[in-house]
Amino acid sequence: MIERPRRLRRSAALRRLVAETRLNPADLILPLFVKEGIEEAAEVSSMPGVYQHTRDSLRKAAHEAAEAGVGGLILFGVPEHKDERGSAADDPQGIMQRALRDLSADLGDAVVLMTDLCLDEYTSHGHCGLLTPSGEVDNDSTLERYASVALAQAEAGAQVVAPSGMMDGQVRAIRAALDGAGHQDIPVMAYAAKYASAFYGPFRDAAECAPQFGDRASYQQDPANARESLREVRLDLEEGADIVMVKPAGAYLDVVRQVKDSVDVPVAAYQVSGEYAMIEAAAARGWIDRERAIHESLVSIRRAGADLVLTYWATEVARRL
Ligand code: PBG
Repeated sequence: MIERPRRLRRSAALRRLVAETRLNPADLILPLFVKEGIEEAAEVSSMPGVYQHTRDSLRKAAHEAAEAGVGGLILFGVPEHKDERGSAADDPQGIMQRALRDLSADLGDAVVLMTDLCLDEYTSHGHCGLLTPSGEVDNDSTLERYASVALAQAEAGAQVVAPSGMMDGQVRAIRAALDGAGHQDIPVMAYAAKYASAFYGPFRDAAECAPQFGDRASYQQDPANARESLREVRLDLEEGADIVMVKPAGAYLDVVRQVKDSVDVPVAAYQVSGEYAMIEAAAARGWIDRERAIHESLVSIRRAGADLVLTYWATEVARRL
């Protein structure tokens, strides 16, 4: 035998030397939830280890992530009062904006402060946009709301905004609003290829944003389609996206790879709440090795082509690395 692939697998040191893919704390982005009007942080029942934070506990969690070397934080606000328009989303005194001011004062440049830019956490009906009288999600009037939310977030200290509502033209609308207000330097990380996924289930407990009727299939993508993601990514880049995201990650690694091969901007992938919950639940029963499964899931997302990974395990994994 000339070739013996096992030669390079003989010791941990050799395996480490030739590893093609590495995880770095700086490539990880931690999603954080901040809820208005609660006295104490509340653990999300379907996501053990993930909390709806108070403003104070959020500051602590953000500080710990930054100290562990995590590259970015992405904030989700859970307001006390919701209405049809999602008014709290662009209220300067809304929970997201207050939390942003706290964190940008605390953290400075230690970690990149990002915001999820959507309406579903803020609307009484739980959809990502405004509704027509007949109950459909109206694309173009929603864009005006997103533009206003982008400004509120930027003015409160967001360093990157991440539109996740899957309205057509959302990146262009947000880019134009930011540029028009002197925020031309704030990047847009577009949830470009976002699927209508069952794996978001636990997130809807964390962000209290389950749609009150219907589902998101008229605006999020059909899991059957991969080429459609390339179209979504192309459009978002034409509209000015700086980073493109694929979401979920684990069940869509083929999409991550195809997107990576088709663009020259950083590619992010979101390991979503259901991916987190499945591993935690199986590990809690002793059915899989928790740390190995977490590590393998993240290495695989990177191997598929993601430069950045959004993961609820970001702080824990960064500490281990
Ligand atoms: C929408 C949004 C969702 C997630 C991130 N942004 C929910 C949805 O589209 O239903 C899901 C994240 C996760 O499941 O971890 N604001």
